[in-house]
Amino acid sequence: MCGIIGYIGREQAAPVMLDGLKRLEYRGYDSSGMAVVGDDGINLCKAEGKIKKLVEKTNGGKNLVGVCGIGHTRWATHGAPSDVNSHPHLSCDGRFAIVHNGIIENHAELRAKLTEQGYTFKSETDSEVVAHLLQKLYDGDMKKALVELMKELKGSYAIGIVFSGTPDRLYAVRKDNPLVIGLGTGENYIASDVAAALAKTHEFVLLGDCEIAEATADGVKYYNANGHQIKKKPYTVDWDIARAEKGGYPHFMLKEIYDQPKALTDTVRPRVVGTEIDLDGITFSRAYLDSLSGIDIVGCGSAYHAGIVGKHFIEKHCRIRVNCTLASEYIYSNPITDEKRLTIIISQSGETADTLAALRLAKKLGSRTMAIVNVVHSAIAREADDVLYTHAGPEIAVATTKGYTTQVAALYLVGLKLACIRGTIEKERYEALLSGLSELHNKAAEQLKDHYVNNIKTYAEAFSKQHCVFFIGRGADYAASLEGALKLKEISYVHAEAYAAGELKHGTISLIEEGTLTLALVTQKELFAKTESNVRAVSSRNGTVLAVASRENSKIKSCVDGLVFIPECDDDLSPVLTAIVLQIFAYYIALQRGCDIDQPRNLAKSVTVE
Ligand code: AGP
Ligand code: GLU
Repeated sequence: MCGIIGYIGREQAAPVMLDGLKRLEYRGYDSSGMAVVGDDGINLCKAEGKIKKLVEKTNGGKNLVGVCGIGHTRWATHGAPSDVNSHPHLSCDGRFAIVHNGIIENHAELRAKLTEQGYTFKSETDSEVVAHLLQKLYDGDMKKALVELMKELKGSYAIGIVFSGTPDRLYAVRKDNPLVIGLGTGENYIASDVAAALAKTHEFVLLGDCEIAEATADGVKYYNANGHQIKKKPYTVDWDIARAEKGGYPHFMLKEIYDQPKALTDTVRPRVVGTEIDLDGITFSRAYLDSLSGIDIVGCGSAYHAGIVGKHFIEKHCRIRVNCTLASEYIYSNPITDEKRLTIIISQSGETADTLAALRLAKKLGSRTMAIVNVVHSAIAREADDVLYTHAGPEIAVATTKGYTTQVAALYLVGLKLACIRGTIEKERYEALLSGLSELHNKAAEQLKDHYVNNIKTYAEAFSKQHCVFFIGRGADYAASLEGALKLKEISYVHAEAYAAGELKHGTISLIEEGTLTLALVTQKELFAKTESNVRAVSSRNGTVLAVASRENSKIKSCVDGLVFIPECDDDLSPVLTAIVLQIFAYYIALQRGCDIDQPRNLAKSVTVE
């Protein structure tokens, strides 16, 4: 996500922070800003676009005078990228400035309460409530105000704060979003990650969940959620800047694979209110849904694959016919659509030319359009009738990972919501799926533990010389295998094809010879026996089979050469977890083959040509 930097010391804060912000650019952002405490109170400057603009507007930082400040690169989640929505945000009295990374889930409720109490809002962000709340809660004791603040806030946050009443102090709190304290000599920093301050110090402290940091130029005090002082142990970071920019990972792709528990949390949690799903206020009436002749899901590449998972899920639970079509095909297929069809457009970047053209066509033909998009206020997000953001955070690697799994999670939310409105799902089944979906981030975290990753890595290393790999599965597993094959081919340049397991025998099986690798996805209980027969057909031709299975289907062990279990989860939700296995598998094969993992040949992150 975005970047936070804060400085308290003896130098001018703004130029130091500009340098720190530039080091955070790799995280992706759409705007930036800084606030510095000067003799006349807090001064701030914000700019939509590149940091270069902020440099220009502040004359390299010289226009903001003071030794204590906070800076921010924003990746919008609530409110378009714009000067006014950029951080820092000020309290109404102008005495508090805050920068925030994350999502305040109860922002609407807090905003309503604060507005009633006379606080006025300037931006559309969820973050601005923090500045006003601080003004309200402060009664001369900042630590107490911060303890109270954390009680009020729901969601994920790393927050940097300056207060004109204490120009020698910098404050920070965090929950579920990263924040480190950089310890210098006669100066201290707060930062989203070590990269921002690494040019100045190698000594850091990791601020824990619900902890408070109070930094002066000469030292930092830490407090727990109750306001009791605690001791924190610094650690030394000996990474170079290039490695630090990737959060210590050798590639953005690997970093983004590891971002998935957080990305899934941010996508699902704000939308689940008790046993209800709130799709950010998007409403569908029962009458509208019953009037539909069907749903079209449209996307390209991995977004299309996410759509296929969504098709299975929606058809199964909502009993509505769903077509999933590649955007490039949709546009020239003279599509049959009108107001009786809902079109769901999927795109991580929100700028893909084929997908945008499909959206425009569907709209023109009278269909209601809903976009599932990651980049806030991107073209597709702006033009669709409704938009549900995935909140995966910026994705830098060309091969999508968290972008894809959060699209699938968003489609599950949509499917469950529609099924609930239409009354096509039993209450118990609905609640079981919703709770499974809310727990998916924990299962993803289990998969990212060293022993789990190392097991997949061992298989990847053993199979890295393969020239051709097949991926097979049935139902949701087939949908997931499409993405597994794309991941492998795009980053490792190994030819990979996904087949519906039952389809292999209709031709492709002639390609299986001794040692040909097939990845068999076997997570669907009901289809297990059938897939097992297909697996046996491969092994009896001396093909090698690596299975990705749920533990309930552990019988598959007897007929495969390798096996990776996914953590226990509802069969309908397994594609997210199989995707993580296949991403790790593809990553280590590509690594072994010496490929340019983050920027594979011939590919672009956002394809803005047809
Ligand atoms: C997959 O890893 C990508 N390289 C690619 O297939 C991507 O999913 C596709 O181009 C669609 O992009 P979008 O989600 O930004 O629209
Ligand atoms: N949710 C906040 C916003 O949209 C912060 C985004 C970020 O983490 O950059 O302004």
